[in-house]
Amino acid sequence: MDKDSYLARLETVVDTTIDGVITASVKGIIETFNHGAEKMFDYKAEEVIGQNLKILMPEPYAHEHDGYMDHYVKTGEKHIIGIGREALGRKKNGTVFPIDLAVNECEVNGVRIFTGIIRDLSDKKADEKQVRDLQKLETVGTMVNGIAHDFKNVLAPILGFADLALDLAPNDGDLHDYLERIKHGAEHAKKMIEGILNFSRPMPESEKKFVAINSILDRSEHLLKSALPEHIQIHTSFEPNLPEIHANSTQIEQVIINLCTNAIYAMQEMGGVLDISVKFKEPFLEIVVKDTGTGIPEDKIQHIFEPYFSTKPAGEGTGLGLSTIQKIVLEHGGTINCTSEQGKGTVFTLHFPLITYCSRIIQGDEKILLVFEDSSLAQAVEELLKKFGYIVSIVTNEDEAVTRLKASKYDLVVVDDFIKNIGGKIHAFSPAKIVLLTENPEKIPQSVNAVVKKPLQEEEFKSTLIKVLSLA
Ligand SMILES: Nc1ncnc2c1ncn2[C@@H]1O[C@H](COP(=O)(O)OP(=O)(O)O)[C@@H](O)[C@H]1O
Ligand SMILES: [Mg+2]
Repeated sequence: MDKDSYLARLETVVDTTIDGVITASVKGIIETFNHGAEKMFDYKAEEVIGQNLKILMPEPYAHEHDGYMDHYVKTGEKHIIGIGREALGRKKNGTVFPIDLAVNECEVNGVRIFTGIIRDLSDKKADEKQVRDLQKLETVGTMVNGIAHDFKNVLAPILGFADLALDLAPNDGDLHDYLERIKHGAEHAKKMIEGILNFSRPMPESEKKFVAINSILDRSEHLLKSALPEHIQIHTSFEPNLPEIHANSTQIEQVIINLCTNAIYAMQEMGGVLDISVKFKEPFLEIVVKDTGTGIPEDKIQHIFEPYFSTKPAGEGTGLGLSTIQKIVLEHGGTINCTSEQGKGTVFTLHFPLITYCSRIIQGDEKILLVFEDSSLAQAVEELLKKFGYIVSIVTNEDEAVTRLKASKYDLVVVDDFIKNIGGKIHAFSPAKIVLLTENPEKIPQSVNAVVKKPLQEEEFKSTLIKVLSLA
């Protein structure tokens, strides 16, 4: 390779690396600035070439930098040269971000230059912070849970003896009044403790069902409207026919109500508009709760999801709202984000995953064969399956079933107890999955893919079908 093409290649390599590559003179004047650096710092190369490196650093680094360079040039004492370290960079718009900086020096044609290779650590730091925050949340949760249990035990005698003393105290005297207040206070404390215990209790998976998000939102909207002051309006936009999500509807309602309560609080003085929307944003279900309230100051927003962080006066906030919300959302495999502008308002955006097999059910093109001796049961099951969106045929005995399965392709066969042994036969000539309905689910024949207990529970039946259909 000749020297020119070698140089051209080198130049391309440097220019296309994701890392920022900067060279500077011994005086700290920027001489080259690659694309990676342009992207990272939001400066064009021509804006910074000829300028002092300091413009890429926040204070106090910028201030110290000249002295540091002079010192190094004079004494050769290294602080970062040839070592590399984590530092802070400063973008054109002033944003400060974490970087990994590796500085080296070399001589080109007898002139000493410094090279800096810079990696943006923002994402890595954010990930680390999220993990740390979650760990902190977990620790706090465990600790608080322990305290709350003990505290409940402490409250029990206070409440009990307050009751006993109330019985003894004359009804109209001061003593009665004081005891009432003690009781009231202790009851309030008990409620708070119960709230905390509730918060730290893990949610059993079984409480999740396939639910239509819009029905939850409708209910929340109804509830909110009844309590909304006149100067606050509520706008909703719910996309129709959304796929169902696998969720605990009480908790999702709690999330929505909590977000809206915060939003209403933020608008209580000036009034405003509360906007709730839900839509399908592949591959997620997106819920947005938006208000035109006070907004959240920049130095506070990073703390809002921490338990017990509240800017509200005592008695008006516990600071547990958003941390509970976050916990619920995470337990549903979702995410929650907040953006806010002080004086303008706040937006909370939630994403919930739509389990892939969940969207199958609304596809409605699966063919299901029912093999039922009892025709009234068969009809009931047929109704249910049609409601879920499947295409259903019924046969009443084994021979008919075999004829049907030979004639056309079915995805699933639902078999009633009476012909348990049909499973093996079906598998012999049809790829259809088999679900057995039985009163006796302990004995599961090997040839079936799943068993559903009679009498049928709609939810259980539905999720079993979805699971079986999603089997490869
Ligand atoms: N929509 C909102 N507008 C302005 N500030 C909000 C909003 N939602 C939450 N916040 C801020 O986040 C803090 C924590 O909220 P939360 O966890 O619900 O606790 P609480 O409502 O009990 O204070 C609030 O005290 C408030 O400062
Ligand atoms: Mg709240």
